[in-house]
This record gives sequence, structure tokens and C-alpha cells, in this order.
Amino acid sequence: MKVCIVGTGYVGLVTGVCFASQGHNVMCVDIDRQRVKKINSGIPPIYERGLEVMLKQALKKKSLRATTDLKRAVQSSSISFICVGTPSGLLGDIDLRYIEEVAKDIGRSLKDEYHVIVMKSTVVPGTTDHSLIPLVESTSGRKAGPDFGVAMNPEFLREGTAIDDFLKPDRIVIGGIDEKSIETVARLYKGFKAPIMKTNPKTAEMIKYATNSFLATKISFINEIGNICKLLGIDAYEVARGLGMDSRVSPAFLRAGLGFGGSCFPKDVKAIVGKAKEVYYHPSVLNAALELNETQPLRLIKLVENKIGDLRKKSIVVLGLAFKPGTDDMREAPSIKIISSLLKKGAVIQAADPKAVENARQIIGKRINYYEDAKEALKKGDIVLIVTEWDEYRDEELYRGKMVFDGRNILEARVADYYEGICW
Ligand SMILES: NC(=O)c1ccc[n+]([C@@H]2O[C@H](COP(=O)([O-])OP(=O)(O)OC[C@H]3O[C@@H](n4cnc5c(N)ncnc54)[C@H](O)[C@@H]3O)[C@@H](O)[C@H]2O)c1
Repeated sequence: MKVCIVGTGYVGLVTGVCFASQGHNVMCVDIDRQRVKKINSGIPPIYERGLEVMLKQALKKKSLRATTDLKRAVQSSSISFICVGTPSGLLGDIDLRYIEEVAKDIGRSLKDEYHVIVMKSTVVPGTTDHSLIPLVESTSGRKAGPDFGVAMNPEFLREGTAIDDFLKPDRIVIGGIDEKSIETVARLYKGFKAPIMKTNPKTAEMIKYATNSFLATKISFINEIGNICKLLGIDAYEVARGLGMDSRVSPAFLRAGLGFGGSCFPKDVKAIVGKAKEVYYHPSVLNAALELNETQPLRLIKLVENKIGDLRKKSIVVLGLAFKPGTDDMREAPSIKIISSLLKKGAVIQAADPKAVENARQIIGKRINYYEDAKEALKKGDIVLIVTEWDEYRDEELYRGKMVFDGRNILEARVADYYEGICW
């Protein structure tokens, strides 16, 4: 099929490259000229394992191109995916500005032929029905259903394993306004082995929020258990092992630590809390999950202060900046909170990350020293905070003679001078 993908970030580019690998013809659209240029020269503008190889293959086979010309991309395809960002607004609610722009642009570009518009961005329930459809109808003068199809197809990929997650999902959810829209989207996924759940757009939108809210709550839950364990002198990881053996619980997402960050969990939980408030519901469980996550990273700093006292002028090595390993994404990374608190306390920061230094510099600025190589950072200080669980930080030898405060439980710390975990 001829597919148009609007937005070439983590979701859009991965979606485009993966559909191209399945034999579809993909046109990726972005307003950012630099991004488009990079993609067409085979350089992904984001880091994601395996993406560069697949992008180069797709370009070579001519099954993918990037452009800034949305109109041409829509008119030369039969289905368009909206994959632009849906950031938090000022009050934590969802900012639909980019979605609305794209909806109008797509509407203005529709021709006489039937075309299906698919919402892949994460949007609060009702957005596809009450925002996307009216905007497309008013700008195109055409009617949803007979003239164009509409579906909501939430994306569940995780940064760091995005390609694998996309190509081998647990399930594919397609919420369509009618059978024809749903079947058109389902045809794109023909080669996939996952079960397809067919529903309406509003339910599909809510499934995405329910999934992320559940996972975020599970993380906050195990962090709470971890915090209690720490105070009681119990290893939270042994507790999690015993807990995870219960088939009703499952061992996934039971790693107590610094809490969740990234572009999805914090903003999505805030967005559904905001939506619930609109209908006069106070979501106490979700609010508690967010509240605990706010303070969790700062517990690591408390441990350091308890051990060494005043942090003024102390050189502290922070290992890991990205919100999780395998990505260069810094959005809502716990490292940001930890570093700004350390800076306020007068510490001097040596921060290392193999992939996220460039993005971190844009957020944190020049107030700290950056290293791609952890060994270089470790030459500059003996107090070490493990913030992101990159595999290369598992090498015990890195910590010989160091004081280590581990936020991710990645060490046995056989050679460190001192070792303490946040929840164990
Ligand atoms: N990142 C994830 O892990 C993930 C996973 C599942 C779902 N999602 C959801 O998918 C959506 C996209 O997330 P992302 O992380 O890929 O975002 P992103 O910020 O990485 O990328 C968004 C892209 O859209 C482009 N864009 C903005 N306005 C545009 C316009 N008018 N026309 C064309 N391009 C435009 C931007 O330039 C940017 O390249 C969000 O709703 C997010 O919540 C993200």
C-alpha cells in the first residue's frame, strides 16, 4: 500500500521504516527540513538500535522517502498516519496544537479518492471523533465515512526496542469509525503475527492511556514497596522476585528504582488525569502514582547526603542521562531532576551518557561537564550516582575505590569502597 506518515520522530520514523520493510511504499512528512534532509541521506535524526540499517535499506529499495510537502504525500497515498507529538499543556493536560494543524493540512490535501486517516499519536479519548474528524471535514468539504475513512491505531513501542516492538507487538488495536476504515488499516498489518483488536476510536484511545497508566502505576507501586523495604532493611529485589512469580502479577515492571520518565508515561498519566477532571472525576490512584514519581529521584540524593553530608564543591559523577538505556531521549529523564537538585546544593557534576549528551546539553546547559565515555567522567570524581542502566555501566571494575549510589540495581558492587541502593 502507499502510506503517508506525518511526523518523523520516534514513532513516525520507526512506523515508516517498519512498514517499508513489509513491502509498503512510504512517504514520511515533517515540517523540520533538517530532519527530512537527514532521513533522505540515511541518517536517522534520533537514536534507535537497528534504525539506521533499516532506513538505509528502505532508501536503497526506494520504498521510503521523506518530504516537507504534506499535500503531495497525502495525494500520492491511500492512507495517512498522524504521528506528531502530543506534549503536556501548561496545566499537564494534552496540547493538541500539532494534531489540529496536521488534521487541517490533511483535510486541505484530500482529493476525490477515498483516503483513510489514522491517528497514531497518543490522544485523549474523544479527540479523533470530536477534533480530528470535524477539522478534516471542514477543511476538505467531505464527509467522514463515505468520503474518507478514520481510525485510531495506538502505538505501544518502547524507545530502545522500538523496531522489535513495532514488528512483533503483543496486539494491534484498531479503532475505526466503520468497517472499511478498520479493514484498510488491518491490511497494512497483514504480515504481522499479533492478534488484532477491532473497536471504536474512543476505546482505542483509552486502551493506550489505560496501558501507560497501569505500567506507570506498577512502577510507582514497586518503588513504594522498595522505599518501605529500604527502611525495614529488606532487599526489594528479592521481594519483587517472589511477587513476580505470582502469575496474576508478572515479573515485568517490578524493578524498584528512580521512577519513570520519558516522553510518554509522565505526560500520558497527567493527560488522562486532566481528562478525568473534565468529567468531574478525581483519579486518586493515578495522582498518587505521579506524586510518588516526583519525589523518587530525590531519594538518591538523600542517601548521598546521609553518607557524606554537605555536597558543596563535591565532584559527583552521574552515570546515565537518557531516561532509559538504548535511547538518546532526555524528555522527563530523572537525571534532570537529580542534576538540578545537586547543582542547587553546590555540587560539581561530571555527567556521562553514551548517546544522550547532545540532547542533555540542550536541556541542562553548560552548568555541568559532559562525557560520552564513563571512564573519563570517573577520573574526575569518586562519588558515583548510577541513574540510567546502560549495559556498559555494569562493569564492576569501573567502581574500584568509588562510593556508589545505585538508582537502578545494576551492580553487585564487589569492588566499590562503598555501595548503597535506593530501594535495597
Ligand atoms: N516516543 C515513544 O516512545 C512513543 C510511544 C508510543 C506513542 N507515542 C506517541 O506518539 C506521538 C509522537 O511521539 P514521538 O515521540 O514520535 O514525537 P517526536 O516529538 O519525537 O516527533 C514528532 C515529530 O512531528 C513533527 N511535526 C510536528 N508538527 C508537524 C506538522 N505539522 N507536520 C509534520 N510534522 C510535524 C516534529 O517535527 C517531529 O519530528 C505522541 O503522541 C506520543 O505520545 C510515543
